[in-house]
Amino acid sequence: MLQPENILCREDKNCKDSNDRFFADVLDGLQSIPKTLESKYFYDEKGDVLFQQIMGMPEYYLTRCELDIFKNQTRLLNGYIAADNSPFDLIELGAGDATKSSYLLKNLVETDTDFTYMPIDISGNILSVLNKRLTAEIPGLDIITLEGEYFDMLEQATHISARRKVLMFLGGNIGNMEKDEALSFCMKLREYLNPGDILLIGFDLKKHPQTILDAYNDKQGITAAFNLNLLTRINRELGANFDIQDFEHYQNYDPLTGACRSYLVSLKKQTVIIDDKVINFEKDEAIYMEVSQKFSKNDIAMMAEESGFYIGGAAYDNKGWFTDSIWIAK
Ligand code: AVJ
Repeated sequence: MLQPENILCREDKNCKDSNDRFFADVLDGLQSIPKTLESKYFYDEKGDVLFQQIMGMPEYYLTRCELDIFKNQTRLLNGYIAADNSPFDLIELGAGDATKSSYLLKNLVETDTDFTYMPIDISGNILSVLNKRLTAEIPGLDIITLEGEYFDMLEQATHISARRKVLMFLGGNIGNMEKDEALSFCMKLREYLNPGDILLIGFDLKKHPQTILDAYNDKQGITAAFNLNLLTRINRELGANFDIQDFEHYQNYDPLTGACRSYLVSLKKQTVIIDDKVINFEKDEAIYMEVSQKFSKNDIAMMAEESGFYIGGAAYDNKGWFTDSIWIAK
């Protein structure tokens, strides 16, 4: 089904499987009405670089706000996490380079807390870099890295140890799910926890609509490039022939629903070929790319309640734009 040019992937079963998955998802999305692509595919090598650039943009406040929380409210957060002083496993979903959590880790080690840090990531490479760096920077840190999908690795974690669990899901990543998906995701997380276990989860809050729109519609066009890069990736990895010039990024924020959505709009009536499939675009037809959902405090409280948690506390950045919420399993 896939082109033999995929030399890198040809001999590698895992790689072939994931490429087949990518192909199936892309085709599925572009054959749906309305057309859609999944934002989890933004992050190829170029996409990672563009996302780094997004995090550095003045308009993109999210990362700075959450970093402010982890830097300046470490003790507040650790007060919740260390709770009754019983030993625990601190499991981070999608740990990446753990810039934010390393503030917590340092403070927990300095205060002689008995815990094991278990970062989960799909990138084994990121995890080995992280392991080396944290072991050097935080002497005495107990760390077990878990490479794989979130739920597979959560399962593993429960086999490795039966201690109290503190789960972290940061970065407002929950916002990339539609509301019903986010709810079932939290309900599924809850299944891996026991009553009293903690979920520390980051949410971008509703705020002035213009502030939100600007964060996803920067003047330099980095977010546009980030979206368009997925078409380039599809061309390269799936042998498609998207002409990037013929698509334009369009961003929208609805203050009533809190949904900030990105689209790529076809600038003309055109046909794109992927493998042996033909995809037709009308002029001005949009591909829906990504939602970055914004939440009110009440939205968060309702979601906690509906997924089997109660809210034990929360930390906010100095602007009150972002929150890390402490959910306790009921
Ligand atoms: C990685 C999900 C936090 O939605 O704000 C940034 C991704 N997309 N700009 C977000 C993103 C466009 C980002 N998260």
